[in-house]
Amino acid sequence: MKIGVLGGTGPAGSAVSARLASVGVEVLLGSRTLEKATEVVDGLTKRWSGHDLSLVPATNEMAARADLVVLATPVEGAVNTVRTLVDELSGKILVSMVNAMVKWGDRFVPLMPYTGSVALALSRVVPATHVAGAFHHLPAGQLGDPDHQLDADVMVFSDLRSVTDEVIGMIDLVPGLRGIDVGGLGSALAVEALTACLVEVNRRYKTHASLRVTGIV
Ligand SMILES: NC(=O)c1ccc[n+]([C@@H]2O[C@H](COP(=O)([O-])OP(=O)(O)OC[C@H]3O[C@@H](n4cnc5c(N)ncnc54)[C@H](OP(=O)(O)O)[C@@H]3O)[C@@H](O)[C@H]2O)c1
Repeated sequence: MKIGVLGGTGPAGSAVSARLASVGVEVLLGSRTLEKATEVVDGLTKRWSGHDLSLVPATNEMAARADLVVLATPVEGAVNTVRTLVDELSGKILVSMVNAMVKWGDRFVPLMPYTGSVALALSRVVPATHVAGAFHHLPAGQLGDPDHQLDADVMVFSDLRSVTDEVIGMIDLVPGLRGIDVGGLGSALAVEALTACLVEVNRRYKTHASLRVTGIV
């Protein structure tokens, strides 16, 4: 399977790209400019030396032609990025890892889009695309560190069980990660909002917290 990452040059997108490429997934790392994608891929190839990464620099448009596409832009760029790729994304799975939060005073708090969640906003813009969500709670620093042994669950949501299962299958390729089905797009608000709590945990305890769900055998 070939995966495309929109906004793949940031900490989150580059970490997801490198981690998936490290387990044999072919990844098109996307950017608004091919030059920036090329620079980031060069950097990742050096950082992950010793790993045979199948990582190719791409524009977002090229990345959107992959079989499955991950959206890793900031919230303010999410809808407009996807809006320009309606045709490329048609019939495919789009996995949003976009969180919505703002700094309110000295605290991070969830931002509630008027659509209810970022994922629901995306699903309105690309109605012929299966919008899913994953990776919201994984700290990019750890995900992108080849020496870090991951140990986390990844909450996955979509409105189709088969879509969720496909995303979970991709996540489960990565040692130390386990994908968990947390429901449909109606769960997106809770998943996206929870990140603000984790950021506060990180600030309070000076750590990089992620999540494990207990009780699943
Ligand atoms: N950082 C984390 O630990 C983490 C963890 C989980 C989830 N997330 C989520 O993942 C997403 C990306 O996080 P990040 O920290 O990597 O963000 P970022 O560095 O601010 O942005 C990622 C990339 O998106 C592109 N971009 C920036 N502004 C844009 C705009 N207005 N329109 C279109 N593209 C734009 C840029 O790529 P080009 O200039 O190359 O196009 C940038 O390198 C966020 O929604 C975040 O909530 C982050």
